[in-house]
Amino acid sequence: MKFPKPNNIVAEKYVAGMSLFKSKLAKIKLSANESALGPSPLAKKQYLKVSQNFARYPDSDGTFLRKTLSDKFRIDRNRIILGSGSDQIFELICKSFLKKGDQVIVPKYSFIIYRIYSKMSGAKVIYANENNFTVSVKDILKKVTRKTKIVFLANPNNPTGTYIKRKELLFLRKKLRSNILLVVDDAYFEYVKQKDFMSGLQTFTNFKNVVMTRTFSKIYGLAGLRVGWGYGSKEIISALNRIKPPFNVSRPALFAASAAVKDSSWLNKEINHVNKWNKKLFAEFKKMKIDTNKSFTNFLLVNFDRVKVNSAKAFKQLAKYGILVRKMDVYGIKNSLRITIGTSSENTELIKKMRKILNV
Ligand SMILES: Cc1ncc(COP(=O)(O)O)c(C=O)c1O
Repeated sequence: MKFPKPNNIVAEKYVAGMSLFKSKLAKIKLSANESALGPSPLAKKQYLKVSQNFARYPDSDGTFLRKTLSDKFRIDRNRIILGSGSDQIFELICKSFLKKGDQVIVPKYSFIIYRIYSKMSGAKVIYANENNFTVSVKDILKKVTRKTKIVFLANPNNPTGTYIKRKELLFLRKKLRSNILLVVDDAYFEYVKQKDFMSGLQTFTNFKNVVMTRTFSKIYGLAGLRVGWGYGSKEIISALNRIKPPFNVSRPALFAASAAVKDSSWLNKEINHVNKWNKKLFAEFKKMKIDTNKSFTNFLLVNFDRVKVNSAKAFKQLAKYGILVRKMDVYGIKNSLRITIGTSSENTELIKKMRKILNV
């Protein structure tokens, strides 16, 4: 009997931030930009409450969470779509809008998932150059062709930690052909306090050709529960809803996320912690001659060109000490690592071990 042949999908496999090194669980995991302080206690409480009722399916429309989000951000609940992580929103967008022969533009150093789902949908991915690890709107516009269907970008960006100003975002939208969909990923927007910055959601609330995405995996500390969401025009959101798998967000995830949204004081605690350590780590790395651009997120991209130990060796040595960070090879950034800001004791341990490895 002949087995059915799987489709020959030519897309790289997503390599997640590691949790294990040589089969041992890392003591300190700074590889996936998860929250340092974890979820709000209110979210945990809801999770435990829901555990009494795991026999029930979730509400497939996530009505309560969408209402909570619409109240919090003063947006239309009918224009919100929930996903099993924001990953799923990118997947739905690609499935919905792309076909073979289409082109998608992403910044050269950007979240790998955009290119994976684009390729899975048969599109060709075109890479726009960055300036000093910052998204270049000018280069994105240069790369537009007749075949361009979608432009993806995260603001601030992963893995570089930099952001582009509101003015530039608006300029990009203005200059892009109106039938090109712009996707602005707000995954880390909460950490940016600069006056010239504005989240995608706020900048483009009523644009018909922009979709904004947000996640509960970063500042909300709920990565393990898999919840994210997208916001767009009624037409786009209803197109995405047509192919959304039913029950794609679990009951515990829906309830925990709803509680997390309401706990602003917990969020502020996480923001203050990250922004304080961002400055400290920047200064510490500088002293060690490890270069890093200014980051506006909960991670730093660090380069080893000016020290004797290269990034591959530093990665291994840190892993041996039980500290996992992220290699940048798949992102194509040479001799660099991306390090998530952890708890105070984790960060202190990281500095100590890094000094030891560099012998400084
Ligand atoms: C820019 C960006 N967007 C989205 C995500 C993924 O979020 P989720 O866990 O909601 O799928 C990540 C995670 O690393 C990210 O860096």
